[in-house]
Amino acid sequence: MKIEINPMEKASLVTEVIRNRRTIFADAYTAEEVSQELLEKLLTDATWAPTHKRTEPWQFVVLKGNHPAKFGAYMAEFYKDYILEKRYNSLKQYCKNATLIAIIMKRDERARIPEWEELAAVSCAVQNLWLSCAAHGLGGYWETCDAAMQYVEQFTREGERSMGVFMLGHYEPATTKAVSRRRPLEEKLRWDFGDESTD
Ligand SMILES: Cc1cc2nc3c(=O)[nH]c(=O)nc-3n(C[C@H](O)[C@H](O)[C@H](O)COP(=O)(O)O)c2cc1C
Repeated sequence: MKIEINPMEKASLVTEVIRNRRTIFADAYTAEEVSQELLEKLLTDATWAPTHKRTEPWQFVVLKGNHPAKFGAYMAEFYKDYILEKRYNSLKQYCKNATLIAIIMKRDERARIPEWEELAAVSCAVQNLWLSCAAHGLGGYWETCDAAMQYVEQFTREGERSMGVFMLGHYEPATTKAVSRRRPLEEKLRWDFGDESTD
């Protein structure tokens, strides 16, 4: 898909989507269904992430049917000893409206590149997915708690590794609190000019 758009406008749009993407938690999602067509579009965007040696090391499993209820109950049971009853009950309901996608890393069969590069590539794919959700006005959220990591293990095959659950859904931006912040770039940025005296 190629849309003609002037370069300045394109850059502004990308920046807008990147900076305004937010973590929208599953309890904010409405009951409105995310269509299969849209889901496939979002996941196709995910697959346009870069990969070393084009290994495309991702597998996605869309968890339909009773999975949202099952996963909520699983999380509630998983953390039962550490949480109050109120939290236990809300966790069971937590993702009832969410579309759940199990995120799985499938290692290159010949292990041509280090595992960390495959994990990095899948993370790039998740970011694509998340940005595409944001651009479509959907909420999204990557859940990597121990319960999520373990829940996804039932879907992994040989040579694959769980990377948690991505949840997404429609939500009402006007009534959903989604604030985030970033520390100033100066705290993260260094410049290095080598040893200029040797030039
Ligand atoms: C690899 C990764 C794993 C994450 N896992 C969780 C998680 O398990 N629980 C959670 O509340 N947020 C999780 N997040 C989302 C972060 O909490 C969130 O990105 C952060 O609070 C900043 O908010 P923002 O995404 O709106 O900028 C994860 C994000 C990443 C990149």
